[in-house]
Amino acid sequence: MIELAASILAADFAHLADEVALVERGGATILHVDIMDGHFVPNITFGPPVVKALRPITKLPLDCHLMVENPDDFIQDFAEAGADMMSVHQEVCRHLHRTLQQIVHHGMLPAVVLNPATLVDTLVEVLPMLHHVLVMSVNPGFGGQKFLPLALDKIAHLVELRDEMGLNFRIEVDGGVAHDTVAQVVEAGADMLVAGSAIFSPGKTEQNAVEFLKLARAAGSVPVA
Ligand code: DX5
Ligand code: ZN
Repeated sequence: MIELAASILAADFAHLADEVALVERGGATILHVDIMDGHFVPNITFGPPVVKALRPITKLPLDCHLMVENPDDFIQDFAEAGADMMSVHQEVCRHLHRTLQQIVHHGMLPAVVLNPATLVDTLVEVLPMLHHVLVMSVNPGFGGQKFLPLALDKIAHLVELRDEMGLNFRIEVDGGVAHDTVAQVVEAGADMLVAGSAIFSPGKTEQNAVEFLKLARAAGSVPVA
């Protein structure tokens, strides 16, 4: 199933509840929450209190993308705040297997994120544990960046590994996914589509989501040779 994970990084934070309602009406089925610490990435966003504030205002699963140096220190806090999915960066987890075990132990769906420079093959040993793999199609830290086409080969490689290994993890893509790039990522095999700046826009948010999903689903229904 192709899903839109609306990234609230691009929302109007002064009216977050209204923004969430708009993307939900437009068909988003996941809320993507970008957690940045100012160390792993050169930007700071929000932490568990914002996740806790979002929890009662929506039924959508909260997909927390941790761009922090020390994700292990925050697993429990985000779980208690109401996170449903947690993705951690391969690049900061010295004991990735243990971190994933902890995410599961705290009742969340585990995922690993790959920066553009990180090889898909670094995940082979943990793929059976994952709910999804998040392929970055920009260098993380900011919304509104240009899509990096190298993500397409990584998505296709993950599809191959999934088939070879008989697994069923999902493939999420994040960064520069917009109306003009979404068809390529769906054709490559991604089915959880993170989009922020392509969706949130004053007066157009709901319609942007509707149109984005229409394009994504059209690309998904075309058989790939
Ligand atoms: C970037 C974040 C993304 C960001 C995407 O580091 O992980 O989730 O919100 O924004 P757009 O869709 O504008 O590229
Ligand atoms: Zn993200």
